Amino acid sequence: MKRDILEHASETVRAAWPQCNPVCGLILGSGWSDVAEAFSIRETMNYDEIPGLGAAGVAGHAGRLCWAEYAGIETLIFQGRRHWYEGVGWTPVALPVFMLNSLGAESVILTNAAGGIREDLHPGDLMIIDDHINNMPENPLAGPHDDFWGLRFADQSTVYDRSLTAKIEAAAMALGQHISRGVYLASSGPTYETPAEVRAFRAWGADAVGMSTVPEAMLANAAGLNVAGISCITNYAAGISKEPLTHEEVTETTAKAMPKMKELLLTFWKELADG
Ligand code: HPA
Repeated sequence: MKRDILEHASETVRAAWPQCNPVCGLILGSGWSDVAEAFSIRETMNYDEIPGLGAAGVAGHAGRLCWAEYAGIETLIFQGRRHWYEGVGWTPVALPVFMLNSLGAESVILTNAAGGIREDLHPGDLMIIDDHINNMPENPLAGPHDDFWGLRFADQSTVYDRSLTAKIEAAAMALGQHISRGVYLASSGPTYETPAEVRAFRAWGADAVGMSTVPEAMLANAAGLNVAGISCITNYAAGISKEPLTHEEVTETTAKAMPKMKELLLTFWKELADG
C-alpha cells in the first residue's frame, strides 16, 4: 500500500468538495451500483479523477464516487470497487476505506455479490455478513506498520459491528423482507471456485463465497470504523448448481433484487438517523 497515493486521493476529494463531511461510507459491489440513485446526490467524481483509484475495470461496477445524503446522513458512495485480482496491489482496494477514515466517517457499509453455499441461501436472497474467512493469498495489512491502521496486531474478533447489524435486521423486519446472516469467505478470484473448493469452504464454516469485501472489512475495522456487510446471493456456488457460473448471471440477479436492495438500504439509513 502506498501511503502517499492514499493521501493524495483524500486531498483531491477534500480540495474538490471542501464542505464534504461524511458520516457514513457505502461501497457498492457487483451489481449494486444503481442503489446510489435512491440517495440525494450532491456531486460526483469519476474514479479516474481520483489518483490511485483508477477506473473500475469490472462490468457492473460504475466507477464513480458520489457525495450524497439520505435521512440527513451525509454519505460517500463508492459505485464500484477495485479488486485484488485486477493485479495492481492493495492501494486501490484500500483507498475507499482510507478516504472514509481520513475524511472523518464513522461507519462503512460494504456490499457485494456472492455465491450461496448454505442450503437455505438462494439467488436473490440478501445476507448480512456476520463474520468472514480470509482465503485471499495476502493480508492487506502485511508490510511496514502504519499507525493509521491501528495496532500492528489488530484484534478482529468482532469485525462486523453488532449495532449496525441489528439495525439492518430491524430495517428488513420493518419492510417484511427476509434477510439471512452468515459467514462470507473471500477467495482471490478471478476464477470461480471448483466444487471441491466449495465443499471445503462449507466444512470451514463458510455460508457464501466471493472475491472481495474481506480486505476492506479488515482495514476498516483495524482503522476503527464501524463496519457492516451485506451480500446479495446471486447464484448457487459451484457444484451446488450444475449450471456453469457466469458474471451475467450475477448482474441479472442483482438487477432483479435491486428494488429490495434499495428499500433495505434506505430504511437502514433511516434507522441510522434515529440513532
Ligand atoms: N463465487 C465467487 N464470487 C462470486 C460468486 C461465486 O459463486 N458469485 C458472485 N460472486
